[in-house]
This record gives sequence, structure tokens and C-alpha cells, in this order.
Amino acid sequence: MSDEEIIVETRDLVKIYPGEIKAVQGINLQIKRGEIYGFLGPNGAGKSTTIKMLSTSIKPTSGSATIMGYDIVRDSMKVRRVIGVVPQDLTTDEDLKGIENIEMVARFYDIPSKEARSRAKELLSLVDLSDFGEKYVSSYSGGMRKRLELVVGLVHNPQVLFLDEPTLGLDVQTRAKMWDYIRKIREELGVTIILTSHYLEEVDELADRISIIDHGKIIVTGTSDELKSNLKGDIIQVEFSSEADANKFADYEDKIEVSYPKPQEVRMKVRDADSQLPDIMKYIVNNGIKPLKLSVHRPSLDQVFLEYTGREIREEEGGDVRKMAMNMRRLRR
Ligand SMILES: Nc1ncnc2c1ncn2[C@@H]1O[C@H](COP(=O)(O)OP(=O)(O)O)[C@@H](O)[C@H]1O
Ligand SMILES: [Mg+2]
Repeated sequence: MSDEEIIVETRDLVKIYPGEIKAVQGINLQIKRGEIYGFLGPNGAGKSTTIKMLSTSIKPTSGSATIMGYDIVRDSMKVRRVIGVVPQDLTTDEDLKGIENIEMVARFYDIPSKEARSRAKELLSLVDLSDFGEKYVSSYSGGMRKRLELVVGLVHNPQVLFLDEPTLGLDVQTRAKMWDYIRKIREELGVTIILTSHYLEEVDELADRISIIDHGKIIVTGTSDELKSNLKGDIIQVEFSSEADANKFADYEDKIEVSYPKPQEVRMKVRDADSQLPDIMKYIVNNGIKPLKLSVHRPSLDQVFLEYTGREIREEEGGDVRKMAMNMRRLRR
């Protein structure tokens, strides 16, 4: 990391909210100029709190951080000049036109109105909203509004842009389009981007480096490939109706490791799930074991998350069911 410029650095950054809520528990990181850096973690992990401290909207309880050498507490005004922030919640005013929203923020930064207007036009064009600048934000679709949010924070030419859950609530296609705009912002404006997300595909797709954060701590940091290559093999996870069945299944021989997320559930690491699934199914049948649910996890960020935190980042979206159906089809062939 020596010959690259560190643009953001934190040292033991801590935030404890009233009521002893330990939202951030000692974060150390270094972000390089030009990077897209992703914080990945489930709801409540402390992502927004970290962003809020770095962007000077709240003060850390202890520890420190600098952005371009400016201390986030002592030099907070200087920090604000060099950063842009797109918070998790929408900030644009529905009762204003698109362009007026940008101009309003420009006034806040004392940018002369003529300059503000031309800058606003450039920014609208960057996210393909040129034809909508004169339209009221209330008439925008969810995706258009998010695109506007993305550039409002860029009006004063910041060096670092914070994006807190930039695609939260958007459908998959709109999300993918947002990723293109985020990349375009980095490429065309040369800004360093720090984003948070609880969508694995999002950080996988966008971030040069990722920190997995859980319970206010960084669990691991690396490129997506680095994180994945730390894991060898696939994970086969099977849920049974009884603990006895689970124990019988765990005796399957050709495995690397085994663990029990729940007493009736077995998580087994195997070298290659594809080639071993037929044998595993045979083993299940021969031993009279009755599985309720079977899923295969590839070395994806899902698995990285599972491996490091012992749980899935989002169990609610039915990923396992899809994977199971896929594998069952493969078995039937
Ligand atoms: N203003 C606040 N006051 C008290 N607790 C808070 C406040 N903001 C967040 N928290 C708590 O701090 C923890 C981290 O929250 P947050 O940083 O918003 O996580 P994330 O953005 O990863 O979902 C959670 O337990 C949350 O309930
Ligand atoms: Mg958040």
C-alpha cells in the first residue's frame, strides 16, 4: 500500500450511543485514492454510524479518523469541503425541480449561481437526467430520484463520496443501472467512493476492496477475490427433521469440515459439490436419512459472509430455496 495515497484512515473508531449501544467498536481501515471501497454487513452492523462519523454528522465516542489528512473532529469544516454524502434516507426535496435541488445545495457551498447552474447541468447529464432537470422531483420514478440523490452530493467537486445503501429498495434492474452510474462517477470525476450495502452482489460488483462488518467490527478486509480464495471448496447445507439424522449425515466421509448451525442442520465443506452430490444423495438414501432442505453454497461472497460470521447476511430472500431447486433438477438428470 506504500506507493498509493491513503485518502481515508481510521484508528480505533468507536461509537457508543446513549444506552450503551455499541454501534461501532473499534474500526481501523485505510482507503486509497480512487478506490471504490465497500462496507458489507447486515442491518444494524454499524455501517451508517461509521459513515456518519466519517462524514462529520456525528462525533465518535473515541478513536480518530482523517480524510485527506484532515481530522474528522478538529478539522470538520475542511472535511466537509472535500467530501460528498448521499445518506441512506432520501434528502432531495420533492417540491423542487431536479435542477433546483442541486442549485440549493450549491448555495449552501457558496457556489456562485451561474457556476452552480452549469455544474448542475453537467451532473444531471452524468446520470441521464438532462431532460428531467426542469421537472419536479415528485414526478420522478424511484430510480430517477436515487440518481438525482447520487449527484446532489457532487456539486462542490468533492474528492471523496460516501454512499450509504445507494440502491436500497430498488428493483434488481434499476440497481444494476445505478452501479453503472456509480462507476461512471468514479471514472469521469475521479472521486474515491465509499459505499455501504447489505447486498452482496452490489459490493461484489462494485467494490475494489470490501470490509465485512458485523456487530460494529470489521471481520475481514480484502478484494472480493481475496476473500473468496481464502475459502476452499463448496458448502453443502442440509436441514433434517431430527438431530439423529443430522448426526448420521455428518458421518459422511468425503468432507473437509462440518459444523452445526442448528442441532438439526449440518453444514459440510466438500471439495467440489457438483461431483460429490450424487454420492451424498446415495449416502442419504442408503442410511435412511430424511433431509428437509438441501442447499449448496458456492464460493460466493455469501459463503465468505457465512464463513466469517457464522450466519447468512439475509435469510429472507429465499436464495437457498432457489439453489435447492436447481440442484434437485441437476440430480434428477
Ligand atoms: N441514533 C441512534 N441512537 C441509538 N442507537 C442507534 C442510533 N443509530 C443507530 N443505532 C443503533 O446502532 C446500531 C448500528 O446501527 P447502524 O449504524 O444504523 O447500522 P447499519 O447502517 O449497518 O444498519 C444498531 O443497533 C442501531 O439500532
Ligand atoms: Mg444503515
